[in-house]
Amino acid sequence: MRILVAGGAGYIGSHTIVELYKKGHTVVCVDNLYNSKLKVIKNIEKIIGTNIPFYKVDCCNKKKLETVFKKESFEAVIMFQGYKAVGESVKKPLEYYRNNIDSALTILELMDKFNIHNVIFSSSATVYGKNCKSPIKESDNSQCLNEITNPYGETKAMIERILMDKAKSDKTFKAVILRYFNPVGAHESGLIGEDPNGIPNNLMPYIAKVATGKLPYLNVYGNDYKTKDGTGVRDYIHVVDLAIGHVATIKCFNNKKTNLWIYNLGTGKGTSVLDLVKEYENANKLSIKYKIVGRREGDIDKLYCNPKRANEELNWQASRTVNAMCESSYKYEFNNKISGGELCQKTKKLKKK
Ligand code: WQD
Repeated sequence: MRILVAGGAGYIGSHTIVELYKKGHTVVCVDNLYNSKLKVIKNIEKIIGTNIPFYKVDCCNKKKLETVFKKESFEAVIMFQGYKAVGESVKKPLEYYRNNIDSALTILELMDKFNIHNVIFSSSATVYGKNCKSPIKESDNSQCLNEITNPYGETKAMIERILMDKAKSDKTFKAVILRYFNPVGAHESGLIGEDPNGIPNNLMPYIAKVATGKLPYLNVYGNDYKTKDGTGVRDYIHVVDLAIGHVATIKCFNNKKTNLWIYNLGTGKGTSVLDLVKEYENANKLSIKYKIVGRREGDIDKLYCNPKRANEELNWQASRTVNAMCESSYKYEFNNKISGGELCQKTKKLKKK
């Protein structure tokens, strides 16, 4: 299948393109490079051994995006595009609603116009809200008081609703919604990985910067949660397992029984912050300096999923270990030539905005 990958230069998108090619699919990639770099496309091409059509396009720009729909032909779209920093979304709600909802609607309207019926949407475990009890099933998000704690998560829930209503109104339209838990790690080549702008919000890329001396130590946000060591527990999934999960959903488009699928993509296992630090140290034979500080606003004790539906219906299982997640994360960070000084400079610039 030939697939338009929106946001394909991003962390999950780039790894998914690699796995799509491994299974014989081809892609067209669009990305506005707001939170990614052109070198990612070059590195994807190095891994897959061929060039991919890339267009630097903002998916909110209907006129420009339509030129790609006119010029290229594809049978499905994967929607990775969107802003995804939870904390930033609280500070800039209007930008998040405008960008994430507008880009999704623009793509869906162009799919309609060009008779493209198949879409995979990159959603998030954030749609489960803080009252859901782990292990979380896909059906939980209706029962557990969908108290989403940030605009980022709200945009994911709204786009899911748009896809559900479109699938209800148009039986030729087929939508797969994938709810990610905590994607971490990098491709084994060390050429692509997680490269957030500025100081990372998320745990694993922060640990990676401490491990490579770009940041002095990790702040552990609270050790008074109801978990075995008091630190937050999450369902970390290797980004390559996550990417393979996307490829496994393509078979849904031949399924005549229904036209809407929702899957959790996670391991079903929880790992605490301190456990992850220990795993990182063991995997890479180094030590990570950390300080226990106060809780971060909005964090919850535990969040991990029941991946049974994806395991059974997609015949997909996350198989890479936490050790492999840590090893690949460090290898990428080590290869990713950004000095500590440059990182601090970038952060100072970000703060000024
Ligand atoms: C994990 C644990 C923190 C940083 C978020 C989004 C979610 C998804 C993944 C997009 C928590 C602790 C963290 C640090 C720490 N993104 N932590 N020190 O919050 O589970 O999920 O990212 O879809 O939507 O909500 O991930 O990595 O930020 O935090 O102690 O410097 O690590 O308290 O327990 P989170 P995270």
